[in-house]
Amino acid sequence: MRRTIIAGNWKMYKTSGEARRLVEDLKPLVGASEVEIVVCPPFTALAAAANAASGSNISVGAQDIFWEDEGPYTGEVSGPMLKDLGCRFCIIGHSERRQYFGETDANVRKKVRAAFRSGLIPIVCVGETLAEREEGKTLEVCRRQVEEGLEGLTSEEASKLVVAYEPVWAIGTGRTATPRDAQEVIGFIRELISKMYGEDAARQCRIQYGGSVKPENIAPFMEQPDIDGALVGGASLDPVSFAAIVNTAAEVKRRQKI
Ligand code: 13P
Repeated sequence: MRRTIIAGNWKMYKTSGEARRLVEDLKPLVGASEVEIVVCPPFTALAAAANAASGSNISVGAQDIFWEDEGPYTGEVSGPMLKDLGCRFCIIGHSERRQYFGETDANVRKKVRAAFRSGLIPIVCVGETLAEREEGKTLEVCRRQVEEGLEGLTSEEASKLVVAYEPVWAIGTGRTATPRDAQEVIGFIRELISKMYGEDAARQCRIQYGGSVKPENIAPFMEQPDIDGALVGGASLDPVSFAAIVNTAAEVKRRQKI
C-alpha cells in the first residue's frame, strides 16, 4: 500500500520568519496524520522550516538542487547542502523552472541522480502545456519527460521516487484537470515506470496530481486508484487550507480501506 503524500510548493513566497510561523501553525492542524506531509520553502527558509518541523510529522523539501555536490557553480545549491539543512525531499523539473530557467530533461536526469546520491527523495514534475494538450500531445510529452528525466536509476531508487503530474495550464489558473483525465495520465506514467523499472517499482513509487488543488477539489482526485497525493502551490501558503487538503486526503484514503 502506497503512503499518501501531500506536498506544498511554496515557490518564491515566505521569509524565514514567515516559514517558521507557517510550520508552527500547521503542526496542530494536521496532528498525527497518516499522510506524509512535506513543505517546500525557498532555499533561504529551509533551515527555519526544518527547525520548526523537527520532531513533528512534517518533512521539508527543497524546490531545486544542482547536479554536482560542490564546485565553482555560483548561485547553486547542492544535495549535501540540502541534506545538511534537514531536507528529505527535493522538487525537480517544475514547469516554472522549465519555462523560465531553461531546465531540460537532461538537467532533470542529472538532478534526480544527485538527489538520490545525497539521500534525498526527488519529486519530479512532468506535464503538458495548453498548446500541447490541444494538439493531443499530452501522453507524448509526459512520456518524453518520464523516459528522459528518469533514465538511469536503479529499480530500488525508482520505487522511492515521487512523480508529480502537473498540467502546466492548471497551475495557478484555478482550472484543474478532471480527476478522470488526471488518472488516465498518471496510470500511463505508472505503466511507463513499470516498463523502465519493473512492476514492483511501479507499484511502490508515488504519483501526485498538481495544479490548482484546493480543499474543495482534492477528494475526487484522491479517489482515483493511481493518484497518491498532491503537489499544492497557492493553497499550501495558508496553514488552514493546506491542513484541510491533508486531512481530506487522509479521510478519502481511510474510507477506501474500509
Ligand atoms: P497551484 O496549486 O498554485 O496551481 O500550483 C501548483 C504547482 O505548481 C505546485 O508545484
